[in-house]
Amino acid sequence: MSGYPQIRPRRLRVNPAVRRMVAENRLHAAELVLPAFVKEGLDEPRPISTMPGVYQHSRESLRKAAAEAAGLGLGGIMLFGIPLHKDAAGSGATDPEGILNQAVQDVRQEVGDELVVMADLCLDEFTDHGHCGVLTPEGAVDNDATLQRYADMGVALAEAGVHTVGPSGMMDGQVAAVRAALDGRGFQDVSILAYGAKYASAFYGPFREAVDSSLKGDRRTYQQDPANGAEGLREMELDIAEGADLVMVKPAMSYLDVIARAADRFGIPIAAYQISGEYAMIEAAAANGWIDREQAIHESLLSIRRAGASVILTYYATEVAAALRS
Ligand code: PBG
Repeated sequence: MSGYPQIRPRRLRVNPAVRRMVAENRLHAAELVLPAFVKEGLDEPRPISTMPGVYQHSRESLRKAAAEAAGLGLGGIMLFGIPLHKDAAGSGATDPEGILNQAVQDVRQEVGDELVVMADLCLDEFTDHGHCGVLTPEGAVDNDATLQRYADMGVALAEAGVHTVGPSGMMDGQVAAVRAALDGRGFQDVSILAYGAKYASAFYGPFREAVDSSLKGDRRTYQQDPANGAEGLREMELDIAEGADLVMVKPAMSYLDVIARAADRFGIPIAAYQISGEYAMIEAAAANGWIDREQAIHESLLSIRRAGASVILTYYATEVAAALRS
């Protein structure tokens, strides 16, 4: 037959063994990080309705979740604290007895160095106005006054035993401020996972319930415009120059191009955060029978990996690590 195709890519797809052998990317537990919420004063974990299967932990249930994550060989855990009392300065963030600092201590006690223990370094969970920083009398987010709060929060987290802090507030100069504060107090070994390209995204919606956020308005004066890719790279470049050890793109799925460009350009590990709304979309569609849940989870994470992220924060971390074992 003329025109008979000599080249047949389908040969490498004919059975599961050959497909597995030539797979360019695969998931591994060690590159997954579990974001976890812990709320002051809870005796029992409390379900988050917008994120079915995800809970606000009590201190005790968080310890168990961390131990389980370590047992499954996860890369790390990223902690978010929810205080009972919030105020304008977000005082709970720098209080050694504050919920996040206590949770960091608990988790370190539980897992030692088996898991990278990370904490969100931001004020929005602690402020009564819900913004990521402190405000000017006119109500704008005050960049430089916020840097001082971040520096103090970084030191408080380091004193509690954190391995890695994740400054996520998108203030200019935040990585340099936190790095200088940590070094000044002898915490040279505490690393910084900088939320470099963090977009003002509708997909954070469910997170607001997860952290009992009191935010009115939006974060567009500090988080990035979804229209901008090059700006994301500039932000990451600055973070690296200021001393970031890893840089993160967030959200993940709507910004795979930014992940890919960052992975091509920078020689440091790129992390990506599959956020609350990405999780909620998969859960909602699966609950309706519109997509296959497990396949969709796997495909979404593999896409982020393929784009070039070497570390993935996902609410599915524990479940996927367990599935990879079986
Ligand atoms: C800020 C922070 C947010 C998330 C992580 N860190 C919320 C925001 O910036 O609005 C979102 C995570 C998610 O949606 O899963 N502390």
